[in-house]
Amino acid sequence: MFSAIKGFHDILPGEVQKWQFIEAKARKIFEDFGFSEIKIPIAEKTELFTRSIGEATDIIEKEMYTFPDRKGELITLRPEATASIGRAYIEHRLYENNRVAKLYCIGPMFRYERPQKGRYRQFHQINVEALGTVDPIIDAEIIAMLNHFLIETNINGLELQINSLGCKDCRASYREKLKKFLEDKSSDLCIDCRRRICTNPLRTFDCKNKVCQEITSLAPKVLEYICPNCAENFEDVKRNLEQLGVSYRINPKLVRGLDYYTRTTFEVITDKLGAQNAVAAGGRYDGLIQELGGPDIPGLGFAIGLERLIPLIPKDKCFSAPLYLFIAPIGNAAKDRALQLANRFRIMGIKTEIGYEGKSLKSQMRWANKLNTKFVMIIGDEELASGRIIFRDMESQKQEEVEIEKIIEEVKSRKRNNLK
Ligand code: HAM
Repeated sequence: MFSAIKGFHDILPGEVQKWQFIEAKARKIFEDFGFSEIKIPIAEKTELFTRSIGEATDIIEKEMYTFPDRKGELITLRPEATASIGRAYIEHRLYENNRVAKLYCIGPMFRYERPQKGRYRQFHQINVEALGTVDPIIDAEIIAMLNHFLIETNINGLELQINSLGCKDCRASYREKLKKFLEDKSSDLCIDCRRRICTNPLRTFDCKNKVCQEITSLAPKVLEYICPNCAENFEDVKRNLEQLGVSYRINPKLVRGLDYYTRTTFEVITDKLGAQNAVAAGGRYDGLIQELGGPDIPGLGFAIGLERLIPLIPKDKCFSAPLYLFIAPIGNAAKDRALQLANRFRIMGIKTEIGYEGKSLKSQMRWANKLNTKFVMIIGDEELASGRIIFRDMESQKQEEVEIEKIIEEVKSRKRNNLK
């Protein structure tokens, strides 16, 4: 017997309706905010990711699904979507016809992480990117859009955290200050963080080791060192968020795990998922498009982790449309008629099921009950001969005979008036 690959998972009927609900909500809201869907490949040339995400990040160092194709070219299953969207944006010159290109995509990502609650090797993101402007209005706009989407999903207990990482220049001088601070404490840091002092000192803020956390809580924070332009930019973003009524907390330790970020960064955190508490995350990446070989065009975006968002949807929310009609045929002629009627109702948009295999009425009623249907239509050969069928309301348990010629009209008008 086969089972799914470790860290990969099936999403079964019942659960899928929640995914459809979330995806439909995202599509509607993002389109209202002017974003259009883009579909990008699941695999890219490996170098696209190493160049954009940064060599000294967990994703590049140890989490990529990379393998040679039949000609020996290294390809990678996408660990995230921003690099691929950037590549598509440059390749198709989307900047030529769009002052600001607003794009979103929905789909699976792959990271070879240690699976645990909320952390998978194949997981799904709703990814949003806006390319083309440095205007801080758009930082607030997309954070407000994310906030609105989360409110619409009825999920409580989320906190928006924001920070600014500064531009390339102020970040470089901050990096040196942080490096110096960490070097003085290096004997107390874990082996990984000692290595990070040289490779990527900002990553020490994400270390789970208690001693490292105590040390980094005393470390200089990037916000204290950003240049006046970046500081003003961050003030604008905060003011815009306040004007839009979006509440946030500044987290000076929020550095993000990918190297392409500049200026605004943010995460939405829940207290209900244990260690994997980031439901959505993103930020600005003003140098990325140029780094990938495109023009010097700024961008920003975020991704929502669906495996983390969906378990937070309130349990009492009902997703699938209930079954409206169950047609129970007794006898062969009745079965043919049931098939024709079910087809008519389904074409009319009425959710209908048939009792298959000519089982007894009792067993068909048991099945109809299990499917939680609103009405059952019983068609026996005898009823057919008399031109009438039995129409039963499953809630009130009342039943009546209806002329078969009038049944379509009858169901239509009940549905229209939502009558019992
Ligand atoms: P990220 O922080 O790596 O950012 O991932 C974004 C979200 O994806 C996380 O907050 C989390 O909800 C979800 N996620 C990440 N890894 C896993 C996993 N192994 N299992 C389940 N969920 C996971 C990015 O990917 C950036 N590309 C986001 C972005 C878009 N920044 C700008 N534009």
